[in-house]
Amino acid sequence: MRTARRSARFRRYLMCPPTHFKVSYSINPWMDPDKPVDLPLALAQWEVLRDRYRALGHTVEELRPRPDLPDMVYTANGATVVDGRVLGARFAFEERRGEAAVHAAWFREHGFTEVREPENVNEAEGDFAVTASWLLAGRGFRSSPLSHGEAQEYFGRPVIGLDLVDPRFYHLDMALCVLDDATDSEVMYYPGAFSAGSRAVLARLFPDALIASHADAEACGLNAVSDGRHVLLPQAAVGLFAPLRERGYEPVGMDLTELLKGGGSVKCCTQELRAA
Ligand code: ARG
Repeated sequence: MRTARRSARFRRYLMCPPTHFKVSYSINPWMDPDKPVDLPLALAQWEVLRDRYRALGHTVEELRPRPDLPDMVYTANGATVVDGRVLGARFAFEERRGEAAVHAAWFREHGFTEVREPENVNEAEGDFAVTASWLLAGRGFRSSPLSHGEAQEYFGRPVIGLDLVDPRFYHLDMALCVLDDATDSEVMYYPGAFSAGSRAVLARLFPDALIASHADAEACGLNAVSDGRHVLLPQAAVGLFAPLRERGYEPVGMDLTELLKGGGSVKCCTQELRAA
């Protein structure tokens, strides 16, 4: 039996055009500096994603790209905003460290008064996923376990730590996606990305989760963004479309092959600005 149609909620996103995107270093297994990136195609694919959000009625703010920071297109890593409060990022790798200050400056210039510079390494929404009342938090490759306590204290929300074990899924947002953040129950994830203990935690918290196959996770299908109804995801994750529809969601396939060469897709390119 099909679930009734879901309802979308208005969103505000922060994105950064891939004007200076390139794969000149490798800090995750997806990145191969010998594989050429088609920059005009990357820009066109990114614009389609941005315009799709706008066509769905959401607001997209744009961060000005910097030539010395080729990974800036992945804005999900730059800050975590919950209840209008901003927890800045602290990047694990030198190559991306400069991005944190660019994000922090943007927030200060755009009327955000609560902006915390973090003490511990955290790659923001790459490793923090927000449900109605919790933060799910990845660790193992990028964000420090210490960042989980820091986020809990700052946001005043329970943080549930999850251990990532597969370097292909080095951020939580490569392995898990919150489908309806008006609840604490609607997620999809790929179990193989998590330790046995964390898989058990996920099974307890989300007994009705949509479980993704290895192939769909490899197609970066969990690196998706949901507004509560529309789920924007890489179109190559073909196995997720029917189960999403059965649950009442409207999957929207996106083509972001060029940005996948940097190890990210829809979600990595999208930071959500959650209002108070
Ligand atoms: N090249 C970037 C890195 O390795 C990709 C980041 C992808 N972002 C994400 N939210 N998973 O840091």
